[in-house]
Amino acid sequence: MAYQIRKAAVIGSGVMGSGIAAHLANIGIPVLLLDIVPREVTEAEQAKGLTLEDRAVRNRIATTSIQKLLKQKPAPLTAKKNLDLITPGNLEDDLEKLADVDWVVEVIVENLDVKKSLYEKIDAVRKPGTIVSSNTSGISIDAMAEGRSDDFSKHFLGTHFFNPPRYLKLLEVIPAASTAPEVVEFMTAFGEDVLGKGVVIAKDTPNFIANRIGTYGLLVTLREMQNRGYSIGEVDSVTGPLIGRPKSATFRTLDVVGLDTFMHVAKNVYDKTEGEEQKVFEAPEFMKKMVENGWIGAKSGQGFFLKKDKEILELDPETLEYRPAGKLKTPSQEMAKAQKGFSAKMKTLVYADDRTGELLWNILAPVLRYSAELNGEIADDIVSIDNAMKWGFGWNQGPFEIWDAIGVQKSAAKMTEEGHDIPAFAQSLLDSGNETFYKEVDGDLHFFNGSDYEAVPVNEKVIDLKRYKKKHGVIKSNSGASLIDLGDGIALLEFHSQSNAIGLDIMQMINFAIDEVEKNYKGLVIGNQGKNFCVGANLGMILMEAQDDNIFELDFTIKTFQNAMMKIKYSSKPVVAAPFGMALGGGAEVALPAAHIQASMETYMGLVEAGVGLIPGGGGNKELYMKHLKGLPNGIDFDLQNVASKVFESIAMAKVSTSAEEARENNFLNFVDGISVNSDHLIYDAKQAALSLYENGYQAPKREKVPVTGEPGYATLLLGAEGMFLSGYISEYDLKIAQKLAFVLSGGKVPYGTKVDEQYLLDLERQAFLSLVAQPKSQQRMQHMLVKGKPLRN
Ligand code: NAI
Repeated sequence: MAYQIRKAAVIGSGVMGSGIAAHLANIGIPVLLLDIVPREVTEAEQAKGLTLEDRAVRNRIATTSIQKLLKQKPAPLTAKKNLDLITPGNLEDDLEKLADVDWVVEVIVENLDVKKSLYEKIDAVRKPGTIVSSNTSGISIDAMAEGRSDDFSKHFLGTHFFNPPRYLKLLEVIPAASTAPEVVEFMTAFGEDVLGKGVVIAKDTPNFIANRIGTYGLLVTLREMQNRGYSIGEVDSVTGPLIGRPKSATFRTLDVVGLDTFMHVAKNVYDKTEGEEQKVFEAPEFMKKMVENGWIGAKSGQGFFLKKDKEILELDPETLEYRPAGKLKTPSQEMAKAQKGFSAKMKTLVYADDRTGELLWNILAPVLRYSAELNGEIADDIVSIDNAMKWGFGWNQGPFEIWDAIGVQKSAAKMTEEGHDIPAFAQSLLDSGNETFYKEVDGDLHFFNGSDYEAVPVNEKVIDLKRYKKKHGVIKSNSGASLIDLGDGIALLEFHSQSNAIGLDIMQMINFAIDEVEKNYKGLVIGNQGKNFCVGANLGMILMEAQDDNIFELDFTIKTFQNAMMKIKYSSKPVVAAPFGMALGGGAEVALPAAHIQASMETYMGLVEAGVGLIPGGGGNKELYMKHLKGLPNGIDFDLQNVASKVFESIAMAKVSTSAEEARENNFLNFVDGISVNSDHLIYDAKQAALSLYENGYQAPKREKVPVTGEPGYATLLLGAEGMFLSGYISEYDLKIAQKLAFVLSGGKVPYGTKVDEQYLLDLERQAFLSLVAQPKSQQRMQHMLVKGKPLRN
C-alpha cells in the first residue's frame, strides 16, 4: 500500500502537541488539533453567557494553545499565516473527523491507561490504513498497541519528536512488534523528506535512545559535581562549546527543558532498570527540593540559574541559595583551545591532570561505556546512537565518535586501570586489532558492527561536502572558496572564508566559476555547509581600506563585487543559490541575482548594511527592487512608489526574515524559488533545481531597463524617513543613511517613471556606498560590529 499524508490530526495540544501541529502547518499539511473538553467554564466565558454546551468552550483548550503559538519563543511558526492550517476541536465532538485524516499523532499526558483508552476510540473511527503514532517519551510502544484491531496494530508506532519540534532535528521512530515494515519504511522517508528530520530507528526500550543516554550523562555529571565539589557554573563553563556541545552546556540545558520534565524522564528509566544502572537514574535530593520549591527552570524563572539585575547567579546545591556563577579556568582549557581539530582538543582535555581534565574524563568515560553497553539493545548500530545524540542533544559528535577522538585503546586502558569493566562491544573492537569504531574505506565511512566494518548507509540526498571533496577533489580552490564538480553536469561554488564573508578571493572564484560553468557544465550551485550561508562582505577589509582613505581600492572592490553579481545574473547557465542560516548583507546579495533560490526552511535573510552605517554595495538595492517588480502581474496598474517604499523600508530598517517563508513574504524569495525543509538535503535539492532549469531550456534573463520613481519618489521616501526621525524611531545618522538609500532606490534626479539602465543604478549605489564608508560614524558602526558582534545605533 502506498501511503500519503495529506491531512493529519494531532491529539493533545500541550507543549509538544501544539509544537508538532505548528511544524506540520509550516510544511503545508492541514492539521486537526484536538484536546479534551474542559470541565468548567471560565469567568470570562460565563460573562459572555457561554456554557459547557457551547463549541467555543468545548474547543477552548485547543483554541488557546493555537493562539499561544503566536507568542512563543523561539517561534514555532515559520509564518503567522500558517495558523490558518490548524483547526481546533475536541475529543468528544470531533472524534469522527479522524476518519478523514491519514495520520493521527497522539501527544497527550504520559499515562499508559489514558493513552490506551484514547486508542480504543481512535480504533473505532479511523479508516483502514490510517497511521497512528505516539509521541511518548518512554512508555512501551508494544504495551500501547495491545488490544487493538489488526489494522490499527499494523499502522501503529512511536514517533518521538524533541522539543521544540520545529528546531530540533531528531525524530525517533519506534516500531512496535506489530508494526508493518512498510509503515516503518514510509514514516522514515516521510520524516526525512517531508518533516525534514533526522530519523533514527529506535528499539522499544525505556526512553529510547537519546533520552536514555542523555539523561544518564546529565545525572553522572550532577553526581560528579556534588562528589568533587564543582559548582554549577563551573560545570557549564567546560561542558558546552569547549567539548563540542551547545552553549547551554549541562545545567542551562536542564533549565530550558524544565526540571519537572527531566525528573519524569529519569524516573521512567529508574522504574524499569535495576542494580547499578538504576542507582544512576535516581535524581539527587537537592533536585527534588528544587522541584518542590517550584524552581523548575526557564518556565518558572529560576532553576539552576537565576538572572538578577542582569547578573547570572547559580544555585548552591548545599545551601539552596543563589550566588554569582563561577567558571573553571585551568591550563588544559587554554591548551585545548590552541589545538586544531576535535580529536586533538578532546585528547588535551580528558587526559589533563587538572580540575577540568578530571571532570571531563569522569563524566565522559561512563557515558562512553554506557553507550557501548546499550548498543544493540536500544538501537541496531552505533550510527543510530551517534546520530540520536547529535540531532537530539546538539552534540557535534556522538559517543562513539568521541571515543574514537580520544583514542579507544588509550582510554580503555585508563578505564581498566580505574577498575572499570570494558563493555563487550568495545572489547570486541580492541580484540579485533582495530583502533576505531569508524574508519574510512576508499573514501567512504564504515562503522564497526561488533565483528566487522559495514558501510554507513548513505542517503543520496545527504551530500556531506567535506567527505565529498575528500573523495572527488576540487576543480579549483583559493582561500575563500572552492569550485567542486557535483556530478551530472552541475558544479558547486562553496564559500569557506572566515564566517563565509565575501572578499576579493570569493569574487575571483565567482568569476572563475561562471566562466567554467558556461563552458563545461549545465549549471552552478552556490552553497556551503558552514555555520551560516554568508554573513556579508568582509567588513574588516572594508573598514581598513576606509580608515586608510583608500577610496580608489574600495571603488575597485565594490565594482568587482557588483560585476560578479551581474555575472551570476546573466550567466547563460542557471545559477542556483542555496542559502541557510544567516544570509545577510552580501550573503543576500549573492542569492538575489541567482536564477533560482533554493533556501533551507531556516533561512534568516536580509540586507542589513544600515546597521553598520552602509547601504548594500553589491547590487542588492537594485536586485531587491527588481525582484519586487518581477513579482507583479503583467497588465495590471500598480503604484511604482509603493514598490520603492516597500524596498526602502526593508533595507533602511535592516529587516531580517525569521524563516525562508518569511523571506518569501518579504520578496527576497518569489513563488518559483524553493524551500528545503530538510537542511541536509539542501545541496541536493539545489542541484536538482539547477538540472531541471537546464533541462527545461534555461536562458539568461534579457537585459531590461528599470522604471524608477525619480525625484518625486526621492522626496516621498525622504518624507517618510524624516517622519521617523522626528518621532524618535531613528537617529540622525540613520536619517543620513536613509537619504543615501532613498536617492539610490528612486534612481536619482530623473522624472517619475523614467526607465534607467541597471548599470546606472549600480553606479548610484557605488557612489552612495563610497560616500558613507568614509564617514566617521559609519566607521564607528563597522568597528562596533567587528568587535562586539552587534549593531551600534549612533
Ligand atoms: P502537556 O502537559 O504540555 O500536554 C498534554 C496534553 O494532554 C494537554 O493538552 C492536555 O489537555 C491533554 N490531556 C490531558 N488529559 C488528557 C486525557 N485524559 N485525554 C486526552 N488528552 C489529555 O505535555 P507534553 O509535554 O506536551 O507531553 C505530551 C506527550 O509528549 C507525552 O507523552 C510526553 O511524554 C511526550 N513528550 C514530551 C516532551 C517534552 O519536552 N515536554 C518531549 C517529547 C515527548
